[in-house]
Amino acid sequence: MKKVTIIGSGNIGLSLAKGLVNKSYCLPKDITLTRRNIKNLAEQAALGYQVSSNNAEAIKDAHIIVLAILPQQLNEVLEEILPNIDAKNHLVVSVISGVSCQDIKNKIGQDVEIIRAMPNTAISIGQSMTCIAGEKISDGNIQEVTRLFETVGAVIKINEELMTAATALCACGIAFFLRAIRAASQGGVEVGFHAEEALKMAVQTAKGAADSLLQMQSHPESEIDKVTSPKGCTIAGLNEMEHHGFSSSLIKGIKLSALKAGDLYSAES
Ligand SMILES: NC(=O)c1ccc[n+]([C@@H]2O[C@H](COP(=O)([O-])OP(=O)(O)OC[C@H]3O[C@@H](n4cnc5c(N)ncnc54)[C@H](OP(=O)(O)O)[C@@H]3O)[C@@H](O)[C@H]2O)c1
Repeated sequence: MKKVTIIGSGNIGLSLAKGLVNKSYCLPKDITLTRRNIKNLAEQAALGYQVSSNNAEAIKDAHIIVLAILPQQLNEVLEEILPNIDAKNHLVVSVISGVSCQDIKNKIGQDVEIIRAMPNTAISIGQSMTCIAGEKISDGNIQEVTRLFETVGAVIKINEELMTAATALCACGIAFFLRAIRAASQGGVEVGFHAEEALKMAVQTAKGAADSLLQMQSHPESEIDKVTSPKGCTIAGLNEMEHHGFSSSLIKGIKLSALKAGDLYSAES
């Protein structure tokens, strides 16, 4: 079993830990979780995770160090762990938006193998879309990180310059699709359903749409063509949404998120 230390046990750090344990990548005792306010990790400690507020100590036995703090917290953390970093034995995985592998190497040494990963919060239920990138990484380490993230979802290896684009599409994307589901349920209430049943219907309909594409490997438009009969109600609704900028607003939102994601660290440094 690989030992994993997750520095920054907030939303994504805890989601990753939960996903790895749920999918049997490792046991809670093989995962060390750190944060400054360790009281907030009492629940995880009771479940058998190692918890610590001392980052330097926490990485000593780790094979994989996952950096899951906010960009503005990174420099301080790197200074703390630098004395205990061992380029031969440690693999660093950073999920921090807007921070390049080179940014991290500049602080902790050029020899350390660093893989950048961009998961999303569906990692806690094993359904993340995770993009990974890194240069001069041994095949073994690429395979290990691919295996790690494949236990909690799908993995695509991309060029690092596309990482901020992946952040917008996949990490922020969870929120975009959730808002679309919420909006659909609100439409459902307007046409006659109670809020709870409208949400259930919208969620299952969205799941059906996504699963159709995944299972049939088809294109969204060919699935849409199957629902839109001439002069029918679906095309009327769909076109009305497009007149109000449905596709355009998603595209514009993703472009703006990508722009912001690229600036997060440089705005702080
Ligand atoms: N949320 C997402 O969907 C998502 C997806 C992909 C990538 N990311 C990236 O993942 C990173 C974390 O995001 P998040 O949403 O999980 O943020 P978050 O919930 O704020 O988690 C950050 C955690 O880091 C801890 N922390 C801060 N300083 C620390 C230090 N010096 N040592 C140890 N722990 C420290 C904080 O706890 P204390 O205050 O107690 O220290 C907090 O629990 C970000 O860089 C983000 O860009 C997020």
